[in-house]
Amino acid sequence: MADTAKITYQGKTYEFPVVEGTFGEKAIDIGNLRKKTGLITFDPGFMSTGSCKSSITFLDGENGILLYRGIPIDQLAEKSTFIETSYLLIYGILPNSKQLADFNHHITHHSMVHESIKRFYDGFPINSHPMAVCSAVVGSLATFYQNELSVRDDQEVEIAIHRLLAKLPTIAAYSYKKSIGQPLPYPDNSLDYSTNFLKMMFATPCEEYEVDPVIAKALEVLLILHADHEQNCSTSSVRLVGSSMCNLFASISAAIYALWGPLHGGANQAVIEMLQKIYADGGDVQKYIKKAKDPNDPFRLMGFGHRVYKNFDPRSKIIKTMADKVLKNLSKSEPLLDIALELEEIALKEEYFIEKKLYPNVDFYSGLIYKAINFPVNMFPVMFAMGRLPGWIAQWKELQKDADFRIGRPRQIYTGIETRDYIPIESR
Ligand code: SDX
Repeated sequence: MADTAKITYQGKTYEFPVVEGTFGEKAIDIGNLRKKTGLITFDPGFMSTGSCKSSITFLDGENGILLYRGIPIDQLAEKSTFIETSYLLIYGILPNSKQLADFNHHITHHSMVHESIKRFYDGFPINSHPMAVCSAVVGSLATFYQNELSVRDDQEVEIAIHRLLAKLPTIAAYSYKKSIGQPLPYPDNSLDYSTNFLKMMFATPCEEYEVDPVIAKALEVLLILHADHEQNCSTSSVRLVGSSMCNLFASISAAIYALWGPLHGGANQAVIEMLQKIYADGGDVQKYIKKAKDPNDPFRLMGFGHRVYKNFDPRSKIIKTMADKVLKNLSKSEPLLDIALELEEIALKEEYFIEKKLYPNVDFYSGLIYKAINFPVNMFPVMFAMGRLPGWIAQWKELQKDADFRIGRPRQIYTGIETRDYIPIESR
């Protein structure tokens, strides 16, 4: 017997189907709620609202579980590459050697951008935030590839996927190089994804540049860990924009802007800025824990808390271990790491954090690694975007093929002024 849920309203009982996911999570299908009852649901921030069925990523927030197409992220972080994980997320299977080689070839050979794009960087103010630059340039790809804007032509979508994965590292590196007045480099097709990106970021035409393989591996792991996270804010943005049948370039441009916010992907920048502030303030961690707990103080402990994880974010555990390893490998002491460890230790014993189930999230430690690799702080959210790109693509693609596909158009409860007449200006 199919499971159902009943709602009784004004003496009448209505029955709605209950849908169940792979791991037993359940939802009331209220698609006909308004038609049957005249009621809509009201759920600011979508705390209890599922927007879609998806087979890409599974999160268990209570038990700190994260699976990409069923595979635990710790196994992918240890054994996979970012390109292979991207293939898994986008196509749903681990590629065989030929599939992986072909995918790699497409991405390697689309990594250059149109030469005209370089001129955009002359127009942006020198202190532009790279997230604004990256979103603008990614959006502009829709003007260069006007024959790849169909959302229903599989071949056009496929080439757009290759272009985006291939070009975002180049676009991102250009935003950094321009900000420091260095020439915009060309990608090196002989290198793997992360090594090529690091070389574009830090090499100069004046001398040979060897990328440290430990750093390249650390970047691979960070990109894998950020690759998807079900229906977070920026992914929900990709789906909503894509639901108007808007092309993939524009949908990804919107996602980059959504990710920029300090409550979302911008948090990795905000964490380091917070740690630097605490360090400059004599390392007084207790003072900032007190501020975070004070309901009248807008200060929040950046890198702590999560809408879904009410336990450790499995990604932050892996990143924390890696931060230690990278800093040791670079034989760098990092006072901000010491502050972060002290902050975490104290916060996790505080009743306020325990009661509200606030744990370090993916952004708490990632910035320490980016800082050790000499990325400027404003590039940290860009690293998050580079990692999340395959997830955004996979989710957008799944939406376009969804049997329940329809444009996203939520309702509202109007609380404005009742009907009234226009008042001519002379009478106001
Ligand atoms: C990411 O959704 C995803 O999956 C996102 C992400 C992904 O991979 O895509 O995981 C990436 O965005 C991680 C989160 C990065 N953001 C931060 O680190 C910013 C700091 N954290 C918060 O602002 C907050 O925890 C959010 C935004 C992450 C979650 O916000 P929610 O779910 O709306 O929770 P909330 O703001 O209602 O907080 C619940 C309570 C509140 O207190 P009360 O109103 O109940 O009294 O906990 C408090 C909050 O004040 N609280 C914090 C806090 N986070 C929540 N108090 C102090 N410091 C914090 N960091």
